[in-house]
Amino acid sequence: MAEGQPSSIIVPKYLQEDELSEDVRDLISTLPTDKGWFVNTIYQYQGFWHVPRQLQGLLNCQKHFKAQDTDILLATQPKSGTTWLKALTFSLINRKTKYPITLNHDHPLFSNNPHALVPFLEFDLFHVKDVVPDLSLFSSPRLFATHLPYVSLPESVKDSDCKIVYLCRDPKDTFISLWHFSNSLRLFKGTNPLKDSFDQFCRGINVGGPFWDHILSYWKESLLSLEKPKKKVMFLRYEELKMNTSFILKNLAEFLGCPFSKEEEDQGLVDDILKLCSFENLKNLEVNKNGKRPSGIANKAYFRRGEIGDWKNHLTHEMVDQLNTIVENKMGNFGFKF
Ligand code: A3P
Repeated sequence: MAEGQPSSIIVPKYLQEDELSEDVRDLISTLPTDKGWFVNTIYQYQGFWHVPRQLQGLLNCQKHFKAQDTDILLATQPKSGTTWLKALTFSLINRKTKYPITLNHDHPLFSNNPHALVPFLEFDLFHVKDVVPDLSLFSSPRLFATHLPYVSLPESVKDSDCKIVYLCRDPKDTFISLWHFSNSLRLFKGTNPLKDSFDQFCRGINVGGPFWDHILSYWKESLLSLEKPKKKVMFLRYEELKMNTSFILKNLAEFLGCPFSKEEEDQGLVDDILKLCSFENLKNLEVNKNGKRPSGIANKAYFRRGEIGDWKNHLTHEMVDQLNTIVENKMGNFGFKF
């Protein structure tokens, strides 16, 4: 039961820690721990922080997931714009076959949260103890998502020709978004003081963190993949996606091997996809206002403001300087700038 919670309340799945297999329990008893932002405890494994449910999924998919060359994996840290990337990519790759783009409520995005259409490997497919999911119903190209850092991806993802799209976001906005999201999941525990969460974030202690190491793990791979015959990792930023969505969508389509034809562009298909996946459209759909994920997380938690720079409403000048300096020190040497 979550700390501070009345005993009569049913604990949502995302807070449950008792469905772990023996080997995960054994493993987590040996791992460094810290205070979770919404669960009681988070655990550090292969250099990154995870909630227990994620560790279960991580180990299971490391062991059993077999990537195919045609797979597409969307990789992000929580609160970097995953939901948006899922919607855009799902619309893109299915537009010519299964789901033509329509703004008339026939498209699956009108009745499904993007997370229901593009499952996370570790949270939605491999999360159940001792169960290997049957992925045979996924047609090619299979589209999956993950919050795992590159180091923790199943080996078959690294060894195959499957493509990875990585999306990152400004650290200050990621932090504020994560703070709000975590607070919405804390149920009866009240709001985390901003300063406490900020201190943890600056020490790299948050789900998916350290923030800078997660990004660098994919950044380095994206640079390496430039030297290979086939580009494996496409690296995107939330801010660029916000400011130049149609240009990036077209690049993404090229990368995924389904470029827009002249005819499609003339028909305004790019704009239709942008409208379909826009924050305003998705946020106001019934499914995203009142639906829930199987984990118990409300769909509306994934749509807050969807803006660049909300950190200005929360962080002091000192906090901004502190975080900017940390990020510059950790990432500057690798040629990475926000
Ligand atoms: P804010 O909390 O800053 O509003 P994730 O999908 O990785 O969990 O990230 C959630 C963040 O992306 C939230 O940011 C959310 O509002 C924003 N978001 C969700 N859907 C979006 C969309 N269609 N366009 C732009 N931003 C979106």
